[in-house]
Amino acid sequence: MSSTHLGQPTMDIFAATVAAAVGSWRLVGAGNKLAVDGAAVDAMRASLRGAEFGGIVVIGEGEKDEAPMLFNGEIIGGGRPLEWDIAVDPIDGTALAAEGVPGAVSVMAAAERGGMLAAPEVFYMQKIVSGPAGRGVLSLDYSPEDNIRLLAEELGKTIEEMNVAIIDKGRNHDLIKRVQDLGANWVRFAEGDVAMAVAAAVGDVGVDLLLGIGGNPEGVVTACAVQALGGFMEGRLMPLTPDEMSRALGAGYNVEKTYGLDELASGERFIFVLTGITDGLLAKGIREDGDSLFLQSFVLDSDVDEARLLEVRIPS
Ligand code: FBP
Repeated sequence: MSSTHLGQPTMDIFAATVAAAVGSWRLVGAGNKLAVDGAAVDAMRASLRGAEFGGIVVIGEGEKDEAPMLFNGEIIGGGRPLEWDIAVDPIDGTALAAEGVPGAVSVMAAAERGGMLAAPEVFYMQKIVSGPAGRGVLSLDYSPEDNIRLLAEELGKTIEEMNVAIIDKGRNHDLIKRVQDLGANWVRFAEGDVAMAVAAAVGDVGVDLLLGIGGNPEGVVTACAVQALGGFMEGRLMPLTPDEMSRALGAGYNVEKTYGLDELASGERFIFVLTGITDGLLAKGIREDGDSLFLQSFVLDSDVDEARLLEVRIPS
């Protein structure tokens, strides 16, 4: 079903990410990751107290970094039927927000109850994300070189015109070198792979493909956006330490398996909202002008035809 209006719970999710962004604002650039994240979490949780939908947080964020979090199993919408799986990341790019540099966002996603792959024992996921052109063409089981060549062909681009985003972490440095050796452009970013992955699925904002190992919770949040956009994504759970591996195997996960998009997030309806804290590809960061804060939110709801960029003014 397609509508022109954003209904519930999209507007509640939108409000929660705006609240988180605004809540964090006074601490953006103050150099304290825990404090800025804590402010965003508190504001998001307070906003969700007024939510008019019933959901359960299946992807909280914070275990890996011991950050303050909306915890897994937290119930939203007091007493209403639990119809939604919720994934939250009050700040993706906490270090960026703490430093006051581009790329920090507040994100939240929803899928029908039972639709999200919840694997909290595993902190990392290997990901491949592109726009619709990658569907039926790309695979995490192919080499990065083959995936870039195949997507370039679909997009009618040369290899040299391909922009491949990979998060700048030691574990991805071999991959980055292979992409550069092939002649493609590496889109470099230090943190925040939700926005970069969704940018790859959007397709016309300067990223053609996202590759590499980033956070697992962030992967499932991304999958909801990719579903709403009709894009392509696959993921593989990536325990990086012996301890993580034994927890993953103990929990019964298949760490060899390539998860398709429908296995990462399934159902009929997907909602994803990203609100800018500092400037990014999908939304501008918060601007303070006089006694107002101006924010931008990138909103996807699979019930609504197109992505929306909502602008909001909040008295500061
Ligand atoms: P947080 O800001 O929520 O901590 O996440 C930032 C982030 O860069 C994610 O975008 C990414 O998926 C993950 O961290 C990568 O983890 P790590 O920083 O441990 O390599």
